[in-house]
Amino acid sequence: MQISDRIGRARVSGTVKLAQQARDLEEAGKTIIELAEGEPEHDTPPHIIDAAFEAARRGETRYTAVAGTTELRDAVSKKFLRDNKITYGIDQIIIGTGAKQLIFNALLATLNPADEVIIPAPYWVSYPDIVKIADGTPVIVDCPAHQAFKITAGDLEKTITPNTRWLLLNSPCNPSGAVYSADELRALAEVLRRHPQVAIMCDDIYEKIVFDGDDFATMAEVAPDLFDRVLTINGVSKSYAMTGWRIGYAGGPADLVQAMTKLQGQSTTNPSSIGQAAALAALTGPQDLLNQWLTRYRSHRDLVARRITGIQGLSLQPPAGAFYHFINCEQIIGQRTPDGSILAADADIIEFLLHVAGVGLVPGSEFGAPGYLRLCFAKSESELTAACDLIEQAIGKLS
Ligand SMILES: Cc1ncc(COP(=O)(O)O)c(C=O)c1O
Repeated sequence: MQISDRIGRARVSGTVKLAQQARDLEEAGKTIIELAEGEPEHDTPPHIIDAAFEAARRGETRYTAVAGTTELRDAVSKKFLRDNKITYGIDQIIIGTGAKQLIFNALLATLNPADEVIIPAPYWVSYPDIVKIADGTPVIVDCPAHQAFKITAGDLEKTITPNTRWLLLNSPCNPSGAVYSADELRALAEVLRRHPQVAIMCDDIYEKIVFDGDDFATMAEVAPDLFDRVLTINGVSKSYAMTGWRIGYAGGPADLVQAMTKLQGQSTTNPSSIGQAAALAALTGPQDLLNQWLTRYRSHRDLVARRITGIQGLSLQPPAGAFYHFINCEQIIGQRTPDGSILAADADIIEFLLHVAGVGLVPGSEFGAPGYLRLCFAKSESELTAACDLIEQAIGKLS
């Protein structure tokens, strides 16, 4: 069968690939601690499951409006006002099959060939590939550790061209955990005001996982004058432990939301009716669980940070948000394994840790930042402790 050039240009998601490799090894009888895939350890809270069940029993099993039910869009509108002080009317909101589909919809609905999308690196694995599938050109901007993995106003100014259509901002960031303060966003907004051809996509999916009292901020909130150029993307996957339900939401200017809805109407139609009923319960139900989970994530972050920084050759800056450690492994590159092979790149270290330690991580190169390992700490304390023991023992065997 002929496979299109469009699909030929895209890679398989590195995270998905690594998680599958770990599953294959498990099926072959090996014990693997899987810290590659990024999802909460918890199950979806029971009141959310009950709401979905009741919705199905009530007969909410049919197509809904393409952009999502009025009830859910209304709840999203209230959420944006309550948490972010942004006013989005119902016609400025779209519900999608995960935040990922909304990013896809937005890029496919706006990019023409030769259009550029600025992506600060390290970035979420899927951004460059979605841009390529949409016929755009990803323009990667390196944001090193000494910049706390964030794009500066100066970098942004230098990178914008007449062809730039979007700046993709992800805060808290997967994989680095970087969180942009309101002042940092204001500095970027200052640059963006001079370049009206550039829209801003804020992927706020980790909004509820911000440590140490850092206040979450998003562009449409801190720069209301840019409102018509901002798409704010969020969802229930990470905050409410609902990755499998596939519900994301976005707020933006009505013309963009309409174009995204038109595209969605010709692809998946509406997101799952039952998933929408569950997301409605998540957004309108009790929120105290989120703080309990945050406390737990914080203690897991600190536990793993203590252990990893004690291992010769590995180092990290504890993340300000999300649930990943982005571990520098440059000192280990070039070392020799007990069977004599050389670890020439971060991907080799990942292979070594998967096969020798039985721990699944993702190489930084998948996120545009070679020399790093991403570890998801949204797991149980016992798994994390065991994983750190195994990593320490395996690294101790290198020469
Ligand atoms: C930064 C980022 N954006 C978007 C998504 C996709 O979220 P959803 O499950 O809502 O499609 C993920 C999932 O890993 C993510 O890490």
